[in-house]
Amino acid sequence: MNLLSAFLPVGCRVLPLAALFATLHAAEPMTSIRSGEVWPDTEGKMIDAHGGGMLFHEGTYYWYGEIKQGKTYLPDVNKSWGGTRVDVTGVSCYSSTDLLKWKKEGNVLPAVNDPASDLHPGKVLERPKVIYNAKTKKFVMWFHADSLNYAAAGCGVAVSDTPNGTFKYLGSFRPDKGVWPVNVTEEDKKDPKSPLARDFEKGQMARDLTVFVDDDGKGYLFAASEDNATMHISELSDDYLKTTGKFARVFPGRLMEAPAVFKRGGKYYIIASGCTAWAPNAARSAVADSIWGPWKELGNPCQGEKADITFQSQGTYVLPVAGKADKFIFMADRWNKDNLPDSRYIWLPIGFEGEKPVLHWMGEWSPK
Ligand code: GAL
Repeated sequence: MNLLSAFLPVGCRVLPLAALFATLHAAEPMTSIRSGEVWPDTEGKMIDAHGGGMLFHEGTYYWYGEIKQGKTYLPDVNKSWGGTRVDVTGVSCYSSTDLLKWKKEGNVLPAVNDPASDLHPGKVLERPKVIYNAKTKKFVMWFHADSLNYAAAGCGVAVSDTPNGTFKYLGSFRPDKGVWPVNVTEEDKKDPKSPLARDFEKGQMARDLTVFVDDDGKGYLFAASEDNATMHISELSDDYLKTTGKFARVFPGRLMEAPAVFKRGGKYYIIASGCTAWAPNAARSAVADSIWGPWKELGNPCQGEKADITFQSQGTYVLPVAGKADKFIFMADRWNKDNLPDSRYIWLPIGFEGEKPVLHWMGEWSPK
């Protein structure tokens, strides 16, 4: 045994020096946001929280996301959806007070080995988002719950007494069954080919989704509906566990996915993507005085090189930085469709030109 190996932890003794330094480097907590690089958690493992969302609760940020590990993907099984199949492993949760050092809290909604369950590894669980209900004091998770061929197109809801779980799964459903949207037209109702009328009885489709809590405590679901062509905004019940049946159709026929919603200066904003599966496309943004609309499109918020593909990413959440009235972070995924676990994170500060949100590429920056 040489002098160096005498002081090394057992697992390191067989490593050549170069590999050892690479390991130590990977274990270092982040000191800045470096979009597109490997982001280690406080144990030095790559953060596994894709299509994620953030909750700020009692001084701590909680980052929830899709776990994409091990055999969670099988190339070519489902070609029409990008050649990649994604299996459910669960939802990860990480915590941080500075947005840089992320402690793994664990898998807060693990997969269930029952083919009848939405949480069975053969199903799809995407874009988990958690909101806190101040009335019930429960943490409520919403996600896109689907069948392998994405035909079920529903929402899954889970609940927990603590932000770091474990969440109890309540089930999935199609929102707004048997009701028309507040802005329905007579033609919409009668059009035999319209997905809105087609899904009236069984409930409206909900694929890519997010949930948003307004200043008055009211919750809303934003979901890509009607075969992804039109977004629906649905009011949540007071306990955030269901939709109330009040909903609106927005951006009709615009094929918007990956909704991220935030409020600034009394106005509502959305940043979303187009609809090209795992491949990146140009983001869109829009603003509204009322959450029910009308929503005014403001175009692609990205500027500069690769703006047309959102700097090779797809949005997932906009984080209002705690205690900073006008600081927002755009969180996105740089999907690697051939190796989904190696998908990276892109976080960028949002600037504003008048009311228009603007994103510029920044390879390294500090969230402070
Ligand atoms: C994307 C969507 C992802 C995932 C993927 C599957 O458009 O935003 O969450 O569903 O398609 O191909």
